[in-house]
Amino acid sequence: MEKARFEKIPVDIVVYGLAGAVTFPYSYKGKEASVGWEVNQVSDVSIAGREKQIVWIGRNQDLDSQVTFRNPCEFINGSNLIAIPGFVDSHTHLVYSGSRSDEFEARVKGKTYLEILSAGGGILNTVANVRKCPEEELFRLSKERVTRMIECGTTTVEIKSGYGLDLTTELKILQVIGRLKKELPIEIVSTFMGAHAIPEEFKFNPEKFVSEICKTWIPEISRQNLAEFIDVFIENKAFSVEQARKILECGKSYGLKLKAHVDEINVIGGLDLTIEMGAVSADHLLKTEKHGISKLSGSSVIPTLLPGTSTFLMETRHANAREMISAGLPVAIASDYNPGSCQFFSPGMIQSLAMLQLKLNAGEALIAGTLHGAFALDRGWVTGAIEIGKRMDLALLDLPSFRDIGYRVGWNPVRHVIASGKIVKLK
Ligand code: NIG
Ligand code: FE
Repeated sequence: MEKARFEKIPVDIVVYGLAGAVTFPYSYKGKEASVGWEVNQVSDVSIAGREKQIVWIGRNQDLDSQVTFRNPCEFINGSNLIAIPGFVDSHTHLVYSGSRSDEFEARVKGKTYLEILSAGGGILNTVANVRKCPEEELFRLSKERVTRMIECGTTTVEIKSGYGLDLTTELKILQVIGRLKKELPIEIVSTFMGAHAIPEEFKFNPEKFVSEICKTWIPEISRQNLAEFIDVFIENKAFSVEQARKILECGKSYGLKLKAHVDEINVIGGLDLTIEMGAVSADHLLKTEKHGISKLSGSSVIPTLLPGTSTFLMETRHANAREMISAGLPVAIASDYNPGSCQFFSPGMIQSLAMLQLKLNAGEALIAGTLHGAFALDRGWVTGAIEIGKRMDLALLDLPSFRDIGYRVGWNPVRHVIASGKIVKLK
């Protein structure tokens, strides 16, 4: 008998008979990868995985001859569906309790976000609520939110603390994030954001607050291994560049990776600091102009734009995504889901807003919300694209083309979600 010319690939999950799958032809396999915005939708494909990873992508007709099905093997019928990489939401503040619908209405009537914050509302309003909220309730609320996101196709989500602003409550929030990691099937990334606002008790002594974060909080959080990233809100009425420098330097010395909220409302130099310190991402960038964009191009910081927030804050201008893309930057988009400045949580909705507000085309929006989001979490080598060797994180959509994702506003086309090579079953 003739010997087989190649070994069949063993697999333990197969999505067969897909009408299409979206690939990014750009190779991100080597560390020297640069930015490419090309998207291909290939027809009549199957995708197979083993032990969490994608191991085979090919024509439907080649499936049986090229792979061998392990026992057990999960089979998912992909007919009439297209596969895209699961969305990567690299920026959320979803662990909170309470509602700020009253502030939302006040803003609609003309109050500004910073006016509300200065009057003890805004972030501080949520802080008062979260301090009182039992951990179990906070967990229940947060789990519900992540579940809704998964239903909409999110397979990796970053979550920040920052509604405690005292050590006990910050630890409570980070514990909730830790529990979400254990109990939910998608990847959850934890960020410590104690420097989200200055709490009432430190209103007249913000320096003392900064030094507490550095001397006590960061060492404790790192001792308990509760966060991978540290983030600071660099803004008038929040943290100055010098305060942020102290916090980020301290975080870095404890091995935390860096992120920062910069240029959201005012440009005060946060972006320069973020670049100087080698942060993984700089987020918001709503007011970033030429100077910032050219500094970003000389760095490896991922510019993360949040079109849901600029929309929810009723800004008349949005981040200058077109100029960033022209400058060759690997722009990422994320939801910023939080109780005050953005209640948009659906990745499909964020795709629409990226097109309508940031003027991305459909392919750019998809790459920004998947692969570049993964890079914004230092995981671009692990997930964010349908590629052999990447984690098998997929959303299967009842749409003819990826071009319909942002176009069909407000309708959830997700039929199946696969995370780490397992079909996600949500109650
Ligand atoms: O990213 N900018 C600071 N933090 C959030 C808002 C949080 C809130 O208003 O509760 C943001 O916009
Ligand atoms: Fe934010």
